[in-house]
Amino acid sequence: MKGKNLQLIVEGLSTFYGEAQALNDVFLSVANHQVAALLGSNGAGKTTMLKTVTGFLRPRAGRITFEGQDITHLAPHRIIRAGIASVPEGRQLFGKMSVADNLLLGAYSLTKRKRKAFARPRLEMIFKLFPVLGGRMTQRSETLSGGEQQMLALGRALMGNPKLLALDEPSLGLAPLLVSQMMRLLRQACAEFGLSVLLVEQNARAALKIADTIYVLERGIVVLNGTVEQVESDPRIQKAYLGG
Ligand SMILES: Nc1ncnc2c1ncn2[C@@H]1O[C@H](COP(=O)(O)OP(=O)(O)OP(=O)(O)O)[C@@H](O)[C@H]1O
Ligand SMILES: [Mg+2]
Repeated sequence: MKGKNLQLIVEGLSTFYGEAQALNDVFLSVANHQVAALLGSNGAGKTTMLKTVTGFLRPRAGRITFEGQDITHLAPHRIIRAGIASVPEGRQLFGKMSVADNLLLGAYSLTKRKRKAFARPRLEMIFKLFPVLGGRMTQRSETLSGGEQQMLALGRALMGNPKLLALDEPSLGLAPLLVSQMMRLLRQACAEFGLSVLLVEQNARAALKIADTIYVLERGIVVLNGTVEQVESDPRIQKAYLGG
């Protein structure tokens, strides 16, 4: 990562639930306009990592820097305002609300004036990326299919004009074909919106297709970090995550 323009830098991060340590001295970084994937099996600490970065959990040790600003102890809404949007596990849409209202809620972190100028062109970009949403603006979001809901969750995060998108298992519950489509769209969104992505995935195969850098987490510890080529060719990864 040396020499690259690092946007998010996590150093020595440790997070606990009571006395149970879920993250142990984690170092990780995301470069500008790149996708960093955090892989690991159930209970490895992936969600804990995202929640700590987005301010929903307080680390006991370590530092998180975003675009040069120390955000370690900022409240979630301030972290959103700094430019980090997250799509949590299970998407967390407002099911009774329409697609349109869910999208507009994503722009809520912007000032009123910014929202006015920004919402319409951004919506148009989102519809270009996810045409299916454009035709369903008045539909209640709970009646969307799983894949459509995931697109809506991504679209909503993009409405806040983030610089970094933190995603918790966007492939969860999607059929294999939709997973690769979702990953392609994510890569495309990254290019079109000038974004960086911190992608948490249990689906290593899918994440390896679009990531620039990979981190593998086991029991709260980063056990492997490198480029896709490096990680893919590691026998431990072959065995544990790629079924060979
Ligand atoms: N609220 C909580 N209270 C206590 N322990 C928790 C809590 N949330 C998570 N943990 C524990 O912390 C560890 C890491 O959990 P985490 O949810 O970060 O894993 P994960 O990698 O996201 O797993 P999955 O792939 O299943 O989503 C697990 O051992 C889990 O049981
Ligand atoms: Mg999780």
